[in-house]
Amino acid sequence: MKKVIRSPLFYMGDKYKLINQLINFFPKKINNFYEPFVGGGSVFLNIKAKKYYLNDLDKNLILLHNFLISSSNNSKKFFRDLEKVITHYRLSRSFLEDIVPRSLKNKYKKTYYAKFNKESYTQLKNDFNNSKKKDYLKLYILLIYGFNRILRFNLKNEFNLPVGNVDLNKNTEKALNDYFIAIKNKKINFSNSTYSNFLKKMNFSKNDFIYCDPPYLITSGEYNKFWNESDEIELLSILDNLNKKKIKWALSNVTEYRGKKNNILLDWSKKYKVNKIKSNYISFNDNSIKNFKEVLITNATR
Ligand SMILES: C[S@@+](CC[C@H](N)C(=O)[O-])C[C@H]1O[C@@H](n2cnc3c(N)ncnc32)[C@H](O)[C@@H]1O
Repeated sequence: MKKVIRSPLFYMGDKYKLINQLINFFPKKINNFYEPFVGGGSVFLNIKAKKYYLNDLDKNLILLHNFLISSSNNSKKFFRDLEKVITHYRLSRSFLEDIVPRSLKNKYKKTYYAKFNKESYTQLKNDFNNSKKKDYLKLYILLIYGFNRILRFNLKNEFNLPVGNVDLNKNTEKALNDYFIAIKNKKINFSNSTYSNFLKKMNFSKNDFIYCDPPYLITSGEYNKFWNESDEIELLSILDNLNKKKIKWALSNVTEYRGKKNNILLDWSKKYKVNKIKSNYISFNDNSIKNFKEVLITNATR
């Protein structure tokens, strides 16, 4: 089993637990690797390629990736600045030390981080939203201490997640360090566009590979609001066209979920190889896994 790097964005629905299954179906040799729906980046971080072209529709997500990439040049400074902000706002910081009082832990056995951080988090959120020049370190901290770690903005482009029952712990610190090390040796190009515009701009050649992980039509998630049946149909037709041009791709998706079936996808997928993926998917709204079928559909061979 390959050691897997987890993205420090802890993105909802990230593929880090499934990487070892997915890469079994990816080509062995990849020249340029493309992700039109990169999300937190847990896939590209674990793929060896000469160049990486990564895209997502979420502007703030891409700005955060770019911020982390620029921070990787001086990770010591990044951690110094991180500590400064966390200390200034008096947020808990279990990656360094435990400052949550025992009395609070006893009173709120399962929610003491949320209780301890609530006021400071709100202050940090207000400061981030009210400043003209956006401080992406503050945004990163808001994400990490936020409820379910969702990058959620309202229509006024204000970050609007409530505090979560989490803090910056050793796992987060490790994920940050792993990300900084992993991207150092990668040639990465991030863009912020729709997947279709992104794919249109690319000149693919032999040994290139596109991995698509779009929002799933039949599940629920923060980013599903950007996705509907016509997006799904368009994506499948773009993949057909790429197949005609002998460009290799793979598509992650869910064919069945809580009694719902994605019939558009099921019909279309008959033309390609459909690999079952043993999934860890847990819905944001419901912790049970019922009638859940995840697949990786591909035209590529190893
Ligand atoms: C399932 S997530 C990808 C998760 C990713 N594989 C990971 O490991 O973190 C789907 C992503 O597609 C993005 N998205 C939604 N609609 C899009 C569109 N039309 N074009 C490009 N990206 C889109 C969302 O912002 C979200 O980040």
